[in-house]
Formats: sequence, structure tokens, C-alpha cells
Amino acid sequence: MAKVWSVLEVLRWTTTYLQEKGVDNPRLDAELLIGAALDKDRVGVYLAYDQPLQQAELDTVRALVKRRALREPLQYILGQVEFWALPFKVTPAVLIPRADTEVLVEEGLKALEPQSGAVLDVGTGSGAVAIALAHSAKVRVLAVDISAEALQIAHINAQNNGVAELVTFAQSDLHALEHGSYRLLVSNPPYITSAQMQELMPEVAQHEPALALHGGEDGLDAYRSLARQAPMVLELGGWLVVEVGQGQADAVADIFRAAGLKQCYQRCDYAGIARVVGASTGSDGERDG
Ligand SMILES: C[S@@+](CC[C@H](N)C(=O)[O-])C[C@H]1O[C@@H](n2cnc3c(N)ncnc32)[C@H](O)[C@@H]1O
Repeated sequence: MAKVWSVLEVLRWTTTYLQEKGVDNPRLDAELLIGAALDKDRVGVYLAYDQPLQQAELDTVRALVKRRALREPLQYILGQVEFWALPFKVTPAVLIPRADTEVLVEEGLKALEPQSGAVLDVGTGSGAVAIALAHSAKVRVLAVDISAEALQIAHINAQNNGVAELVTFAQSDLHALEHGSYRLLVSNPPYITSAQMQELMPEVAQHEPALALHGGEDGLDAYRSLARQAPMVLELGGWLVVEVGQGQADAVADIFRAAGLKQCYQRCDYAGIARVVGASTGSDGERDG
């Protein structure tokens, strides 16, 4: 007779297996995968420790665990991630929104505080930044991306989060933006260097879209383009606010200043890494706040 597995036994086995495969948080991932297979949240999994698994349930768990063992990101397997306390559908067509990017949203909101206005989100991916800004500030956002597949997912996310009326999506190349008079141009563009592209974790290298990652030889291609175009895309006194990779903030600030942008500032993420650079098309002087 085949062995009957309890939830706790499967959890222990899965944790060890994922650990052996080099997965970072094996216990947490095991809980979430088993929960997805059994349609339970983490508390539901704890409460079901002694429950025996039916063969069909075991097969579902095995299929999910196999995918994670091959280093497919947990978020793609679950199909969803939380960002800015909102649910986002994610597929391999979009970058998985990172918690660090919430700092970009915070800075975008600050830029809109003294004077609100229309927002342009360049490289929207899942729509995370555009949707978070629209949700919090109730502003109109044009969200662009070069990837039609990403835009489809972003559109679903806008609907799911109740901001489809505020956010418009369009396919566009960040190197050829249209003239406008936006108050805020916000972007988390691709910024990984060619050398770093060779050293990414398997979850990122093999599963996330390269288009969302590679920012050219030195990772700074998008920033040069955005800084050059900012004066024709933004109203006078508008803000260009971008996420940057670790160690890129000073170089990006130099690019912004060389392009004639003013009031350049940097903001660290919660790990103390300079993560956001902003600058204005407005007057000289220090930025408030
Ligand atoms: C780092 S991801 C950011 C996604 C999302 N904004 C976020 O913060 O999670 C960069 C995005 O830029 C898009 N992208 C790459 N090259 C582009 C280009 N030339 N023009 C417009 N979008 C581009 C990618 O498709 C991807 O969705």
C-alpha cells in the first residue's frame, strides 16, 4: 500500500528538497506552495498539519515543488504578488515588482504633493508603479512599455485594482517618447550592466524577461535617454524620478545635471542603498523635503 503523507510530512520533505536545490527561503516557499495546492493560506496549512493528503493533492504539490526546484520564481508559480499592499498578477512577460520599488512610488507621491498633475510611467511592466500612484494620488497616468505582452498584464492589474479609469496604457519606446506636459515622469527602467547579466540568480536569469533587465553595457542607457527627453515631456517645474541599481545613483545624478536638470536629489531604500534619483525641469536650488 502506498504511504499516506500528512501535510506536516510533506512540508518537511519539501523544505529539505528545496534547500538542497539552493532555494533561498525553503520553509516559507514550501508553505506557500503547499498552501496553493490545497487552496489554503499559511495559517490554514498550520491548522492542517495532521491532515492526510489525497493522491491528487500530492500530485499537485509535487508539480508545483518541481517547478520551484528548477528555480522558477515563487511569484510566477503562484501567479500573484503583493506590491504597495495591492495584488498584482504576474507572468513571465513582466518583471516581478520588488519591495524596493515602493520607495520610487513614495518619491513619486512626494513630487506630486505640492502640485499634482498628470504622470507618465515609462517601462511599466506589470503596471506596479503606475497603478500604485493612481491608487494613492487619484492622478491620471499614461503607462508605457515596449512589450505588448507586459501591457496586457498591466491592463488586467489596473482593472483588478479599480484604477482602469485613471491609467491608460500604450506601447512606446523609452528612447522615443512623445512631447507632453506631465508633472511627473517616473521610471524603473532596465539597469543591469552587461557584466552583471552574466551573474544573475537562476530565478532572474532564466525566468524574468531580459528586456526588463539589461540596461546596456554600463546599465545607464535608459537614464541618458530619459534625461535628454525630460524637458520636452515634462512641464516646467515637473519632476523626473527614477529607480537606480546599487552603486548607480551618483552616475545617474551626473547624467541628470549634465542634461540641465535642476534640484537633483537621491533617496535610499530601507536597506540604506541609494535607490531613487530625482531632478526637476524647474529652477535652481535645493529640493524641499
Ligand atoms: C525593470 S522593469 C520595471 C517594471 C515595473 N515598472 C516595475 O517597477 O516593476 C523595466 C520595464 O521596461 C520595459 N522596457 C525595456 N526596454 C524598453 C524600451 N526601450 N522602451 C519602453 N519600455 C522598455 C520592459 O519591458 C520592462 O517592463
